[in-house]
Amino acid sequence: MKKCAFFLILIIFAYNICLTGCSVFSGSSGSSTDEWNGPDEDYLAQLSEQVDDTAEPQGEQKRVGVAMPTKTSERWINDGMNIKAKLETLGYEVDLQYADDDIDLQVSQIESMIRNEVNCLVIASIDSTRLTGVLAQAREAGIAVIAYDRLLMDTDAVSYYATFDNKAVGTLIGTYIADKMKLAEASQAGKSYTIEFFMGSPDDNNAVFLYNGIMEVLKPYLKDGTLVCRSGKTDFDETCILRWSEDTAEEICTELINEYYPEGDLDIACSAFDGFAYGILKAWNKQHFPEGKRPLITGQDAEKPAIRDIAEHKMDMTIYKDTRVLASKCVTMVQALLENGEPEINDTTQYNNNVLTVPSYLCEPVVIDADNFEDILIGGGYYTKEQLFD
Ligand code: BGC
Repeated sequence: MKKCAFFLILIIFAYNICLTGCSVFSGSSGSSTDEWNGPDEDYLAQLSEQVDDTAEPQGEQKRVGVAMPTKTSERWINDGMNIKAKLETLGYEVDLQYADDDIDLQVSQIESMIRNEVNCLVIASIDSTRLTGVLAQAREAGIAVIAYDRLLMDTDAVSYYATFDNKAVGTLIGTYIADKMKLAEASQAGKSYTIEFFMGSPDDNNAVFLYNGIMEVLKPYLKDGTLVCRSGKTDFDETCILRWSEDTAEEICTELINEYYPEGDLDIACSAFDGFAYGILKAWNKQHFPEGKRPLITGQDAEKPAIRDIAEHKMDMTIYKDTRVLASKCVTMVQALLENGEPEINDTTQYNNNVLTVPSYLCEPVVIDADNFEDILIGGGYYTKEQLFD
């Protein structure tokens, strides 16, 4: 136990050194976003309380390579930090790398982890189909692989998948829109609302699951004319946004306003990501529509800027994915692979990567809006009030 506490202090110390030295932590440029300057002391203190340090490190220290996609969105910074802290507390050595949304860079980072003889790889891919070569190398070298949040496609080299219920994320967004706009009643009354879609990256399997969840709820209303999409773009292929780019969402929203909604009469911007919501808001705010006139805007990830926007009624909802829980589930998978344990799995049917159906743990996503963010996010210790509003 003492050894673990020592590790924890070391981690916190290392983070502080690293983060004060790394201005590269840039954060998404949300409508009310500040520069992301790394995790606060409070957050690390909270984290240290959550780490299960009951297991003693065993034998020779094993190495885990953690490959994350980008630092441009808060969630991945939290994900990386949580996994690293939890693994180090258990006595593993961790090589955590971020790839700036550059596929070649991610491949070379993973290759270097393989050369350095890591025992296990945890990978949140940028493009889920472009790692097959490097994953074959990992398999050849006998290195176990866990797909983190995003499924690794077209490979037999992946053992487990830790993620959120991605279809449920879409269903929750769709249901929020249906409830808020009272679409069932509108349908009965022959009333209609305009809607446009801003969907996730085509190289991310999660984006398709999310789209399917949204459409399961909203398609009937598009069919009966309760929802009118003036651009006519409702298919995934027409609405997906490569690499989840906030800037592209802003460009698309500007074009949509100019072409179809010059009077500002877009009722719903169905967005799959907080970053898109910031882009939509920027596009909207440049138009000088009357104060308070804006579409209902959705998001995903419960990033701090999104919560501020929700609190200020600039945006309506987001989806909270507790990265602490996901990191814990992932760590149990690492332990299972490296110490012959049994990880907790709750889905063995949904996530087929074109080669195999990967045993998965799906964490539960939660809707956040102006009514519940304090209870759930602050009350649940995910953020402090100061982190959100100071
Ligand atoms: C994740 C989302 C995230 C998106 C953009 C997806 O793979 O599941 O939580 O919003 O990537 O980073």
